[in-house]
Amino acid sequence: MSVQVQGVVARSKGAPVSLETIVVPDPGPGEARVRVLACGVCHTDLHYREGGINDEFPFLLGHEAAGIVESLGPDVTDLAVGDYVILNWRAVCGTCRACLRGRPWYCFSTHNATQRMTLLDGTELSPALGIGAFADMTLVASGQCTKVDPAAPPEVAGLLGCGVMAGLGAAINTGGVTRGDTVAVIGCGGVGDAAIAGARLAGARTIVAVDIDDRKLEKAAHFGATHTVNSRRTDAVEAIREATGGFGADVVIEAIGRPETYEQAFFARDLAGTVVLVGVPTPDMTLEMPLLEFFGRGGALKSSWYGDCLPSRDFPMLIDLYLQGRLPLQDFVSETIGIADVEAAFEKMHHGEVLRSVVVFDA
Ligand code: APR
Ligand code: ZN
Ligand code: ZN
Repeated sequence: MSVQVQGVVARSKGAPVSLETIVVPDPGPGEARVRVLACGVCHTDLHYREGGINDEFPFLLGHEAAGIVESLGPDVTDLAVGDYVILNWRAVCGTCRACLRGRPWYCFSTHNATQRMTLLDGTELSPALGIGAFADMTLVASGQCTKVDPAAPPEVAGLLGCGVMAGLGAAINTGGVTRGDTVAVIGCGGVGDAAIAGARLAGARTIVAVDIDDRKLEKAAHFGATHTVNSRRTDAVEAIREATGGFGADVVIEAIGRPETYEQAFFARDLAGTVVLVGVPTPDMTLEMPLLEFFGRGGALKSSWYGDCLPSRDFPMLIDLYLQGRLPLQDFVSETIGIADVEAAFEKMHHGEVLRSVVVFDA
């Protein structure tokens, strides 16, 4: 039997989101229906609302979520009703060229639910990142559910579903930060701060945080930055070199997605160092640089898609580290809000007032 619940829908480009009754089908083969307990508000939700991702309105927003499996398709054997799960947008297929080469974190053919959730009049919804979790209940592919220790509260666990995982993974997966490394992170929002937390977890000896907002730098120090640089006042490249014995950092993580900060990242690394781009640029952005610098400086220029995470490997591990007090995930939650407050949360996000607002649902 399908169920009807409330969901946050973006009906048309740029218009404020609205709370709508949505119809969530009974799970079919390979699908799971999940009772959402908490879902963080991410920039990508706002990008959907603004028409910046695609034109497939109406969207059911929300994608950084934790919840409980409510019902399962007939053939699903690796999950049980009642399982506590984090939803992910990388349900790996196992058969694409990336999966077959043993690199499933690049999977080019990830699974989503096959059936569509709809509005009451039958209009099909496009769930944000194939999830759609600003709703009491959502329908996903079973592989989008990753079981974790239920001792972690949902508003914390759900963070790993997107932005915080992207930042952590940019450091520990893509950047391969390890004990003794020097690291710089440019842009200290939720993603950059997670990269800082990841670098600390991995044993970095120096972590330089760069931002243009002093409030953000204070937070960055809390998450583990050993040096902070306000790049409105101080040259970021010079400051990073100074903090790293004059050489530049082993790994520089760009967590904004802008040409000028990418250029800073490029020049702020040591010879043979690594740049990780986890910030997402817009289509109009370009960058002109001398080709010789690419050769002369060597090293690696990488991009981090969703922190190159493998949910089945990374989510349970990171939740365990959180439960041991080694990863302060709770400090990314700036506020918990109700399902009717998403539009207000977009506004706060826009003004840089929050790391994450998290919608909490009545159990
Ligand atoms: N130099 C330094 N810092 C900057 C600059 C700049 N030119 N411009 C912006 N910033 C800082 C902001 O002050 C803010 O602290 O970058 C940070 C960006 O953080 P958020 O806007 O909160 O974004 P976040 O959620 O962290 O995501 C960052 O990663 O996944 C992507 O789509 C996401 O592109 C976005 C990026
Ligand atoms: Zn695959
Ligand atoms: Zn997101």
